[in-house]
Amino acid sequence: MNKQEITEKILHLKKERNAIILAHNYQLGEIQDLADFTGDSLGLSQTAATTEAEVIVFCGVHFMAETAAMLSPHKTVLLPNPNAGCPMADMATAEQLRQEKKKHPGSQVVCYVNSTAEVKAESDVCCTSSNAVNVVKSLNEKQSAIFLPDQYLGTYAATKTKRNLILWPGYCPVHMQIGVDDIKNLKTRYPEAEVLVHPECRPEVIALADYALSTDGMLKRARQSSAKEFIIGTEIGMLHRLKKENPEKIFMPASEKAVCTDMKIITLEKVLWSLERMEFRIIVPPSIQEKAVQAVNRMLEIL
Ligand code: 13P
Ligand code: SF4
Repeated sequence: MNKQEITEKILHLKKERNAIILAHNYQLGEIQDLADFTGDSLGLSQTAATTEAEVIVFCGVHFMAETAAMLSPHKTVLLPNPNAGCPMADMATAEQLRQEKKKHPGSQVVCYVNSTAEVKAESDVCCTSSNAVNVVKSLNEKQSAIFLPDQYLGTYAATKTKRNLILWPGYCPVHMQIGVDDIKNLKTRYPEAEVLVHPECRPEVIALADYALSTDGMLKRARQSSAKEFIIGTEIGMLHRLKKENPEKIFMPASEKAVCTDMKIITLEKVLWSLERMEFRIIVPPSIQEKAVQAVNRMLEIL
């Protein structure tokens, strides 16, 4: 079957199953083009929470599908490739967090949505890259706060809010590929270019940027900015929508090495297979779901 035939089959089955296809901004271009909604972690959570479809085919990584399953417990949430994980989310376990909470009694816990449901269940509030600053601002100033698992997003939110946060040593291996020299070299070659980076980048990289933004934040900025050239410091899948939505502008990846292989293992074939077999179903045990969803809902109330 060629791509056209696979796509037609997917669209047909999608109707039959009353399904919606959600895709993250780092997905392969052909998956983004096929999806009913493409967005950042926050937009995807909001769409998952409000969709009327009975089945959600989640083209992203495991924690994203898990969040969708928590927000829509009566819907069927499918992850087309069960191996699509997030190495950063795996850098914190619920048991490690319980130990950390013992070391800092009375601390509030903010967990980045890039975390397991078990970690969310041990947290007070979630955040995404687009609302981390607002979530940290909403914390009780008199209580200490643990931020996990991304030390760099935590550092960024702490700097922006002038709050002290107890940081977890996690990081995104993909955003670590983007170095200071990558940005400096491109800035020398394209002095007029605006530099947009993701807050998962290292602080010294963020310091060279014009803006640190979530993936949807980058799309919004690219639309609104009068700049003609942009250096994009995030996973390279981001370039697909940026170029498609702004054909008159030029977008350059800060590093070609910033590839999230977990995001790329969702293919058209896997999506078709997923709808045919109704696999792989993401189920969060009710005891975890009840607690974890509170942290996610608290975030959705803050925004
Ligand atoms: P966004 O929420 O900004 O899309 O980021 C998700 C992510 O995994 C970044 O690596
Ligand atoms: Fe996780 Fe980094 Fe991939 Fe985002 S880009 S899903 S944080 S590994």
